[in-house]
Amino acid sequence: MSLREQLKELHPMQRFRESAIGRSIWRVPDPKTPRDAAAKHWASFFMHIYPVKMRKEEIGFRYSWYLGISSLVLFLVLVATGVILMFFYVPSPQSAYLDIQRIQTDLPFGQFLRNAHRWAAHLMVFVVAAHMARVFYRGAYKPPKEFNWVVGVVLLVLTLLLSFTGYLLPWDQLAYWAITVGAAMAGFVPFLGDISKKLLLGGPEVGATTLLRFYVLHVAVLPLLLALVVTIHLWRWRKDSMLSPARTEDDLPIEEFVPVKEES
Ligand code: HEM
Repeated sequence: MSLREQLKELHPMQRFRESAIGRSIWRVPDPKTPRDAAAKHWASFFMHIYPVKMRKEEIGFRYSWYLGISSLVLFLVLVATGVILMFFYVPSPQSAYLDIQRIQTDLPFGQFLRNAHRWAAHLMVFVVAAHMARVFYRGAYKPPKEFNWVVGVVLLVLTLLLSFTGYLLPWDQLAYWAITVGAAMAGFVPFLGDISKKLLLGGPEVGATTLLRFYVLHVAVLPLLLALVVTIHLWRWRKDSMLSPARTEDDLPIEEFVPVKEES
């Protein structure tokens, strides 16, 4: 059979991989041996995030319920919708409320955009909490993954802070009083209460400075921090998943580790 005929028989995706453009992206041909599969991971930007080998049970949906990846996807949805919202929103007491109303009524798909951002934010808090519960239930916080658990706790705090800072931006009654109550609660933290309340509000009560502070934290500082910490989280996950089983008491023989390609 000629090469052209052989290529015709391949799945369109495989045919794309074998083309000059496909080769320039994936670098190595479709893997046939475990060594090829590992080479594919080292050579590809997109694949290298995954561990080369994992325990078989960790690959399937039933192990992780894909909650970690779902958290990441939701974060990306929030960045995409948030950047578009930023084009139409000015964080000042004079314009903030009206800008949000205008986004909903004048901007094509504006209502959808705002709702997508809001729902993705609520969902992310839920999914991150569910991911944490899954990790706990599976005992995946045990050595050697204990450091990644701590990194995860930082991610949870950042996710909650993003929610909290975003809440003020619509500058309506709900936002105003929620942040007034939130800041008052921060004021009761032992030793650091006064200073954290002042830092949050930038004055004696919620005002223009507070709105600006929350905006900068919400659109720049916290998302950048979260992106950085997620990168560390995923890198650690990649290393730890390859290194050893999550549960030390039921160590599995090395044959239980399979190249990721086999099951996915
Ligand atoms: C923005 C929030 C988060 C993102 C985007 C995220 C992302 C991920 C991803 C993609 C994985 C690998 C796949 C999976 O196991 O589902 C993972 C694993 C892990 N995450 Fe998270 N995560 C987040 C928050 C957390 C939190 C709050 C905790 C716990 C406090 C945590 C602890 C862990 C641990 C220990 C693993 C390894 C689990 C295993 O190997 O079975 N993560 N995370």
